[in-house]
Amino acid sequence: MDDMLGYIRKYPEMVLDAIEATKKSWLPSLKFDRLLVCGMGGSAVGGDIAADVMRNYGIPLQIEISRRYALPPYVRGDTLVMFSSYSGETEETLSQFAEARRRGLRTMIVSSGGRLKGWAVRFGVPFVELPAGFKPRATLPYSLFTILEYLRECGKLDLTADIDETVKVLTDLREDRQKDSEMTALAGLMAGCRISVYAGEAFEAAARRVKNQINENSKLPASWDVFPEMDHNEIVGYEDNDVNTGNYVLLLRDADEHPAVRERIEATKELIRGKVKGVVELWSLGRSPLAKEMSLLFLADLLTYYLAKQEGKSPDKTANIDALKAVLKEKLNTQDKLENGLV
Ligand code: PA5
Repeated sequence: MDDMLGYIRKYPEMVLDAIEATKKSWLPSLKFDRLLVCGMGGSAVGGDIAADVMRNYGIPLQIEISRRYALPPYVRGDTLVMFSSYSGETEETLSQFAEARRRGLRTMIVSSGGRLKGWAVRFGVPFVELPAGFKPRATLPYSLFTILEYLRECGKLDLTADIDETVKVLTDLREDRQKDSEMTALAGLMAGCRISVYAGEAFEAAARRVKNQINENSKLPASWDVFPEMDHNEIVGYEDNDVNTGNYVLLLRDADEHPAVRERIEATKELIRGKVKGVVELWSLGRSPLAKEMSLLFLADLLTYYLAKQEGKSPDKTANIDALKAVLKEKLNTQDKLENGLV
């Protein structure tokens, strides 16, 4: 049984639950100048969006995401290193945790279980436990709002009013079945296509997230890029050739885009329109940057859900990810090796 549509519709409750779960957790209010979020796939995206939020609100906190086996060598004691893995078993994330232990860095864990939860208990690491039973990518509101609530508790920001607005916007979107019809219609146009997702600089992380959701939910190839950078390279890939004729372009738009970004998007659209099968736009809703970005993510999730249905695929299943994880476990068993070597 597919639950993805149900998960998407739970976004407003997930926001509130994440804040409650963080409040209830044992989390010391730490002093730090930077936040490094270590995670992969659906468990990294909360950090990505949090980094957009810092920029969009002008909050002087650097958030970096580490999607790899090794930590950046320059991370020092002024950085809080957060390990985010929904399953708690992702080898890249576990490997970075083991390195952080060896280097004596300050750590925090967000997970629903697995080894990472075990290590949080064993080493007394500040820990937020996420509810089990979801798909990792469906827990974006949990991972994002855990970070935002913890940053509020540490005195770095207070977005309470905008979080209230976000919950309202997400609830309204959920109730608006016209949106389901619109996303179903778009999915009908885009089915079977390679999709390129582009956003303005304010919502860079959303472009990446939507690309990943097209891959994982809809089982389609996709890519992402961001304005203005894409006008300095990606756009050349749309010069006179036929390789894009079967592709769709999905633009994530916002009425408050930087004026130059807006001009760029409009001009770029004109240049590429005849070279692809189609160009479609999703527009953000709401007033605050947080509500706007979350509304785009919600709409795009619906779109990827309906795309999966068009493709006759289960949006819940990710067979290739599971197969690859099984192969790696069989060949390397990194998790057990790390467990045995932990200091
Ligand atoms: O959405 C997914 O299922 C994946 O992208 C996972 O998030 C990714 O494989 C990492 O796993 P986890 O989130 O359990 O750390």
